[in-house]
Amino acid sequence: MQINKSPKWMLAGVLALSAPLGMAAQDEVTADQVVTAIEGTFGVTPGERRNHTKGTCAQGEFVGSPEAAAYSKSGLFSGKSIPVIARFSLAGGNPKAPDTAKSARGMALQFKLSDGGLQHMTMLNTPIFGAMQPRTFLDLMVATKPDPATGKPDPEKIKAFKASHPDNLAQTEYLANNNPPASYANSAFFGIHTFKFINRENKTTLVRWRFVPQDGVKRLTDDELKSAPANFLEQALINRAKQGPARWNMMVSIGEPGDPEDNPTLAWPESRRQIKAGTLTISSAMPQKGAECEKINFDPLVMGDGIAPTNDPILLFRSPAYAFSFAKRLGGL
Ligand code: HEM
Repeated sequence: MQINKSPKWMLAGVLALSAPLGMAAQDEVTADQVVTAIEGTFGVTPGERRNHTKGTCAQGEFVGSPEAAAYSKSGLFSGKSIPVIARFSLAGGNPKAPDTAKSARGMALQFKLSDGGLQHMTMLNTPIFGAMQPRTFLDLMVATKPDPATGKPDPEKIKAFKASHPDNLAQTEYLANNNPPASYANSAFFGIHTFKFINRENKTTLVRWRFVPQDGVKRLTDDELKSAPANFLEQALINRAKQGPARWNMMVSIGEPGDPEDNPTLAWPESRRQIKAGTLTISSAMPQKGAECEKINFDPLVMGDGIAPTNDPILLFRSPAYAFSFAKRLGGL
């Protein structure tokens, strides 16, 4: 795993922590406002996701480990094969975003538990997020809205956004310093938020998870960034799965007292105890149109018994925002 540990990056984290935590009522934002702002920046592709619009469906299975079962009673860690529907994507609402864009990549998983319940995990290829509260995300969308005169965001607005939102810095720097993946199968994906694992004795453990590719992390070189075609990620994943299953190790970090619980812009120390919680296998991939992942709302708050959310304001905000986008696209808007 590559985490940028430059002093500037750590400073950004500290600044983010020292920002006011208890936001006043005027800072409250609604899912409607945020989804409308995303539409303002990227435009609308009717019937499609408002964010992470460009994507690819995939299918496979997950097998959990007994080590994880000691921390969580979730059926995910029963040791049995759990069917998985997956979607890989590019962040942003542009359905034609080039696969070389230095934006985040996503991996969304829906696990079909044997008791009929569902577990979702909706992750990015960055270890931290660019907002500690929804207001930052909203202000980013407003600041990056293209100026009608130039067709590009106004640099002054972006400068003002950066100066007033230090919690955005860490992820922006990470994306600037780490080229996008050469293939989805060569990317790690991070849960980013802190979650609770609850075991059979009702003991709660704070955890963060990430999926590490058994194919190894491989990024585009600077030369490849300039020469790679706009669309290669989907076909590369389809071809990779045809050659044989692509696998990721689900790694879980065990939290310690004082670890940031409600702030997804701050990473945990790398020294945290890690367990291998299971293996994800992707055995086939296909274009999203008409495939099973297309009509799924990968709401990250869909959880089975044994896994629960923390009070992270971003995690809690995602659910209504996704519902808003989902309702619009299902309605053909
Ligand atoms: C304020 C914060 C956020 C907002 C407002 C937001 C908004 C959205 C929206 C509207 C969608 C489309 C939903 C749909 O139509 O199904 C989406 C998709 C997605 N988001 Fe977020 N998001 C936020 C934070 C995050 C974070 C922290 C992560 C990762 C930890 C993440 C990862 C993803 C992924 C991977 C998808 C694509 C899911 C799919 O394939 O269906 N987002 N987001």
